[in-house]
Amino acid sequence: MALLPQFLEELRRRISIVDVVGRRVRLNRRGTQATGLCPFHNEKSPSFHVYEGPDEPHYHCFGCGAHGDVITFVMETEGLQFRDAVEKLAGEAGLEIPRDNPEARARAERQDTLAGVMELAARFFESQLGGSAGRAGLEYFKGRGLNAETIKRFRLGFAPEGFEVLKAKLAKENIPEALSIEAGLLVKHEDTGRIYDRFRGRVMFPIMDAKGRVIAFGGRALGDEKPKYLNSPETPLFHKGRTLYNLNQAQKPARDRNEIVVVEGYMDVIALAEGGFPHAVAPLGTALTEDHIELLWRFAQEPILCFDGDAAGQKAAARAVERVLPVLKPGLSLRFAYLPQGQDPDDLLRGPSSGGGRGGTGGGGTAAMRQVLEQALPLVQVFWQEVLAGRALDTPERRSGFRRDLLAAVGRIADRGVQEDYRRDMLARLDQMFAAPRSAIAPRPAPGGPRFGRFPQARQPGMPFQHLEGGGEAARRGIAGVKKLPYEVLLMGVINHPDLLHRHGEAVALIPIPDRQLDKLKGALLDLATRHPDLDANDFKNHLMDLGFSGAIETLVRHTGKIRFALPSAGQAQAEAGLLHVMAILRETEMEVELEAAARALEEDMSQENLDRFQAAQQQKLDAESRRRDLDLADFDPLFKN
Ligand code: UTP
Ligand code: MN
Repeated sequence: MALLPQFLEELRRRISIVDVVGRRVRLNRRGTQATGLCPFHNEKSPSFHVYEGPDEPHYHCFGCGAHGDVITFVMETEGLQFRDAVEKLAGEAGLEIPRDNPEARARAERQDTLAGVMELAARFFESQLGGSAGRAGLEYFKGRGLNAETIKRFRLGFAPEGFEVLKAKLAKENIPEALSIEAGLLVKHEDTGRIYDRFRGRVMFPIMDAKGRVIAFGGRALGDEKPKYLNSPETPLFHKGRTLYNLNQAQKPARDRNEIVVVEGYMDVIALAEGGFPHAVAPLGTALTEDHIELLWRFAQEPILCFDGDAAGQKAAARAVERVLPVLKPGLSLRFAYLPQGQDPDDLLRGPSSGGGRGGTGGGGTAAMRQVLEQALPLVQVFWQEVLAGRALDTPERRSGFRRDLLAAVGRIADRGVQEDYRRDMLARLDQMFAAPRSAIAPRPAPGGPRFGRFPQARQPGMPFQHLEGGGEAARRGIAGVKKLPYEVLLMGVINHPDLLHRHGEAVALIPIPDRQLDKLKGALLDLATRHPDLDANDFKNHLMDLGFSGAIETLVRHTGKIRFALPSAGQAQAEAGLLHVMAILRETEMEVELEAAARALEEDMSQENLDRFQAAQQQKLDAESRRRDLDLADFDPLFKN
C-alpha cells in the first residue's frame, strides 16, 4: 500500500469522527451513529448524521447533501487546506505524518513483509494441529470442549516440540532470520547466539488486527509449565496496549448490538463465541489501557467489562475506573459485570451448572452468562463504591475527608460536562447518605431517590434455610407469588409416604411455605411424625384427619392426583426421588428470588456486603439449578412450569 493512503486510513481509525464533529455540533449519540443539526445549512430538525465504526466513518446530511469524512469536516468547518487539516488531526492523534522518503517507505514495506511472515507461521501452526505432530494439541482443544468449526474459525494451531521446527520451515521459504526474529517468531540466545523457535510444544492462538491480519501469537502450555501463556513480543506490527483479541470477528456483532464484552482470556473469548456471544474481546494479558477503551467505544457506548468475583477482580475493576475517568465523554461509559466467585466466563459457560449446554445457545451456562451480563453495574456505582470502600464515616472529619476525596476523584474526569454531572450525582449521594438515620438498621428510602448507606440484614452465604423465614422479607414476598402446587405435592408425598420423613424431615422442616393453611398442615405432620415415628401411611393420614385437616387433605388429593410419586401406590424409591425433586425446584425458586433481591440491593448500594450477598446468591442459584437438573424427572416437570 502506498504511504499516504495507509497513513490516512490509520488517522481515520484513530480519530473519532463523532468527537471531532461533536465539538461543533450538539450530537445525539446512539450506538455508532449520532445525529444533530447540520452545520452546513440552517435547519430546525436534525438531518445531519455521523457514522462511526472502522469501515467508513463519515457524515452525511439528508437536508443539504453535505458529505465527507473527518478530514473534510475539518477542512469545511475551519477553512483549512487538506494538508493543514491532516496535520491538525495528526497532531491530535499523536501521529506523525510520514514524509515520502525512502526510510518511511521502507518501514511501511517492512510491515507488509512482517505480516506476510506472520501469516506463513499461522498457516504452519494450523497445519501442525491437523497432523500427527499436533495430536496432543488437538486433544487439548477437544478436552476443553472446542469443536472443529471453532478451531478453524479462530485459526488455532500447534507449535511442535523442538527448537528448530518453525525455523526450518521459515528457512525453506527463504525468510531471512533477521525478519523472523523481528516478527518475534524466532529468538536469538544472547550468550550463545543460537537462533531457535520461540513457541515450542504449545497450542497457538493467532492474534489478528481489526482487519484480520495475523500480528502476534499467544501460545498456551499443555500442562502446568510456566509461563502458562507465552505471547509475541511488541513488534512493528503488534502493540499490546492497542490490540484486542478477536476484535476482527467481534466488531460486526458488537456494532449490531451496541454491546461489546471484555473478558480476560483467549479461552474465555472462544467459549463465549461458541456459547452465542460473538461480541467478546480480550486484552492480551495486560490491564485495559486508555487506547483500548477508546477503541471499544467505537463499537458500543457502554462496553461491559467482566471481572472475576474475587479480590483480584475487584482490583482490576478499580484499575479500569482509574483508566476511564480521564477519557470519559458524554454518552460513553463502561459497565461492570461480576462473575461468580472463582469462575471465568469459560468456567461458567462449561461448568457443571451448564447442564450439558456446552456450545449450544440454550444451555444453563449460556443463561447464567447472560444473567451476569444483564446484571452489569454502571460505572457511576462502581466509582462511588471504590471511593467509599473501607472508609469509616462516623465523625464529621471523616465525612469531610471522604467528601474531599470523592470530589478529587471526580476532578480526574477531563470532560467538563461529564465532570459536572458526576459532581452533582456524587453530592446527591453524599447528602442522602449522611442524611440517613445512621443508627437505624434499615434506613427509610428518601422519596424519589435511590437509597444509600447501611443496608438491612444481608443474608450471609451458606446460611441455612430457616433463617430466611425471619429475615428475608423480600424473598418471602417473592415466594408467595410462586404457585402453590409444588408445596401441595410436597405435602401429599410425605403424607402418603411418611417413612420419607425419617430421612428428609429436617429438610422439609426448613422449607418456608408461604400459604398459611399449608404451613399449618406441615407443622402438624412433622409434629406427628416426631411423636409417632412408626405410623403407617393409613394411620398417619387418619391421625391428621382427626386433627382437623381432612378438608385440607381432600384438597391436596384433588390437586395432586396426576403426580404419580405422591400417590399411595408409588414405590418407595419413586416417592423419594419425587420428593427430592420437588424440594430442589423449591430451592431453586427461592434462590432466584434471593438473587433478584440481592441484585436490587446491589443496584441501590454497591457496598461490599451487598456485593458478597449478590455473588453468594449467584452461586447458590447456579448450584440449586444444577442440583434440580440432576434430579429432573420428565414425567412431572412440566407441571411446575409457570
Ligand atoms: P488466566 O490465567 O486467567 O487464564 O489468564 P485463562 O485465560 O483462564 O486460561 P486457561 O483457561 O487456563 O487456559 C488470562 C489471560 O492472561 C494472559 C492471557 O492472555 C490469558 O488468556 N496471560 C495469562 C498471559 O499472557 N500469560 C500468562 O502466563 C497467563
Ligand atoms: Mn480459563
